[in-house]
Amino acid sequence: MKLAQLSLVLLLANWVSASIPNIPQQPLLSASTTSLLALHKDLVEIESITGNEADVAAYLVTYLQKQNFTVETQEVVPESKGQKARHNVLAYAGKQRKTRVLISSHIDTVPPYWPYERKGDEIWGRGSVDAKGSVATQIIAVEQLLEAGKLEEGDIALLFVVGEEVDGVGMKKFNELGLSWETVIFGEPTELKLASGHKGIMGVEIHAKGKAGHSGYPKLGKSANAMIIRALAALLDAKLPYSEKYGNSTLNIGTIQGGVAANVIPEDAISKIAIRIADGTPEEVKKICSDAIKSTGEELDINIAYGYGPIYIDSDVEGFDTIVCNYGTDIPNLEGHHKRYLYGAGSILMAHSDHEHLKISDLETAVEGYKKLISHALK
Ligand SMILES: *[C@@H]1O[C@H](CO)[C@@H](O)[C@H](O)[C@H]1NC(C)=O
Ligand SMILES: *[C@@H]1O[C@H](CO)[C@@H](O)[C@H](O)[C@H]1NC(C)=O
Ligand SMILES: [Zn+2]
Repeated sequence: MKLAQLSLVLLLANWVSASIPNIPQQPLLSASTTSLLALHKDLVEIESITGNEADVAAYLVTYLQKQNFTVETQEVVPESKGQKARHNVLAYAGKQRKTRVLISSHIDTVPPYWPYERKGDEIWGRGSVDAKGSVATQIIAVEQLLEAGKLEEGDIALLFVVGEEVDGVGMKKFNELGLSWETVIFGEPTELKLASGHKGIMGVEIHAKGKAGHSGYPKLGKSANAMIIRALAALLDAKLPYSEKYGNSTLNIGTIQGGVAANVIPEDAISKIAIRIADGTPEEVKKICSDAIKSTGEELDINIAYGYGPIYIDSDVEGFDTIVCNYGTDIPNLEGHHKRYLYGAGSILMAHSDHEHLKISDLETAVEGYKKLISHALK
């Protein structure tokens, strides 16, 4: 190219760049934040509503292997019609599967899926908070400690489980490996505070058995719907356990189903209820519920479908605010006598909502928070 041609090209290039309109600049990000955001984005972009965790688990296996972790998968639910097998993912440095510390979160999300979106310094999308914010920041925290030479083989393993949002099937299955740790760090949205505990929960099913009949002759039958309405009204007024730490127990009548047609006396009615327990055991709460129902003069079946009382969580690390939570976690599903911490970016109030999002700076802070917790646990 001749000199004259070259200067013409340069002139043109200058003119083109000068005429590009002013695009608002994204904030400049450090290299570590860039890799954190890339991992977080990949995780959120893979839909993994409970039952459909296969793709995100496969992504994690590849990612963690690339980072030189030893990666194991544990089949939790085998492949069945139309659904791929569901696996937990366990990763550690070197060959040492038994480690002093375990750091863990879940890879399933609640429905419905909606996609990743970056809005300035915020990240929106299903799972961006609960719990892919925790998964990404836990991984980056461990990577950074390894790079800094602050972790050795046998110090820490990472565990990502399926099914936390529904029945804890992943964490329950993980117990079969028979491992144990000094400390387990769980990741859930805690607003970057250390949770000192969370309420218990129990699922209750109430079944009213009436007698079917023609609605024109109510004396000949017995309405299961009338029975269950009285029972539920009594439950709404029942005095459930209170504690200083967690406040009131709360009761949610989630479903009511009864009867077959408007002109038939209903024979069966069933209601499913979730109670968030502030004190005591599910058995004690069940007794309160059955006494309340008996006070209506009706006999109804009441069954505990699942449940546990309030969960104590360690929060003895300096430099963190503490918080108590009203939601359940996988903590009670992991057997063993380990110290346990619960920490993560984002708010639970966002977590299952249609506006689930967090700030980039929350993710960055969570990486530092996990590093502090891991170092504390290994002291
Ligand atoms: C990968 O891990 C092995 C075993 O711990 C170690 O010897 C090797 O140096 C690591 N390689 C890299 C690139 O980190
Ligand atoms: C707890 O329950 C009591 C009695 O039902 C009620 O008066 C009080 O306002 C409740 N407290 C909160 C924080 O909801
Ligand atoms: Zn969660």
